[in-house]
Amino acid sequence: MRALIAGTGGYLPARSVSNDELAAWKGLDTTDSWIAERTGIRCRHIAAEGETASDLGARAALAALAQAGAGVEEVDAILVATSTPDSAFPATAVRIQGKLGITRGFGFDLAAACTGFVYALGVADALIRTGQARGVLVIGTEVYSRILDWTDRGTCVLFGDGAGAVFLRGVAAEHAGGRGLLSSHLHADGRFGDILHVDGGAGSNGGTGVVRMAGREVFKHAVTKLAAAVDEALAANGLGHADIGWLVPHQANLRIIEAMGKKLHLPLERVVVTVDRHANTSAASIPLALAEATRDGRIQRGDLVVMEAIGGGLTWGATLARF
Ligand code: COA
Repeated sequence: MRALIAGTGGYLPARSVSNDELAAWKGLDTTDSWIAERTGIRCRHIAAEGETASDLGARAALAALAQAGAGVEEVDAILVATSTPDSAFPATAVRIQGKLGITRGFGFDLAAACTGFVYALGVADALIRTGQARGVLVIGTEVYSRILDWTDRGTCVLFGDGAGAVFLRGVAAEHAGGRGLLSSHLHADGRFGDILHVDGGAGSNGGTGVVRMAGREVFKHAVTKLAAAVDEALAANGLGHADIGWLVPHQANLRIIEAMGKKLHLPLERVVVTVDRHANTSAASIPLALAEATRDGRIQRGDLVVMEAIGGGLTWGATLARF
């Protein structure tokens, strides 16, 4: 079996907050130019009061199903990557199942911080290849605005809220025409757990922990580890840099994204960038970028798409897909 990316979808909360507005609203000692020069971020979306990860995720999931031309009866499993679940349990995946009116199949959440979507794609691919599920919704959904220390200008300016989803449809390999998820390459190294972590319980419905980050330390790991994961994925499939159609990277920082483009010998026009408008939406950033680039016609059928992410754990990884 092969897992085809049959549909993509994204959802952003209505309110978009610019750097200047954020500084004024939260009384932070920061400037638009400091944030934009170091990160490329110009604005981010912030969820409304009471809007949770399952609310955002359900909307993104419906958009992905609509693009796939799939009904909810095709959904066998729901995998949600999130660091801001509605609550410890039920899983946000099962909350979303309820919101979509699905009463069969199964769902669970997966925690790998900003790498969550890449991890979830790897797990979903395995479920499909082993015949445990045929239609799988993979959703990244985050309400980071509820787990930020709004007095810490070093972290709170970097993140935003949003959700993205893909609907994967299993088809027999002989009918896939080489399309679908090719492979996922997942990594973790717990020795670096403290350089990017949440210092307590987290939840999109009210938690006690907030994001703590040693930004420079994270930066040092990012490009080397991401480039190694992408090269590992390409080599596993007998492919090289010249085969890449699109890079859809995790959107944490434009400088990391540009450095990755250079490492992979890709011009910036072949890199999907949303960090300027969305900031870092953690597990939601890749599926949000996919949703944008499939809707505006950049990503076309047959294109080789590289997805990569790094996040708290440290966790990192890369997935290759032929659209
Ligand atoms: N506005 C203005 N000044 C700020 C600021 C802000 N929002 N945030 C930090 N500063 C200040 C610091 O207080 C420090 O001031 P000081 O020199 O007087 O002490 C100065 O800017 C430099 O801080 P530093 O943290 O060393 O900046 P940096 O150049 O490393 O940039 C990041 C900070 C976060 C942009 C950068 O480290 C980064 O992008 N790291 C990777 C983070 C990331 O991608 N995380 C997510 C991974 S999933």
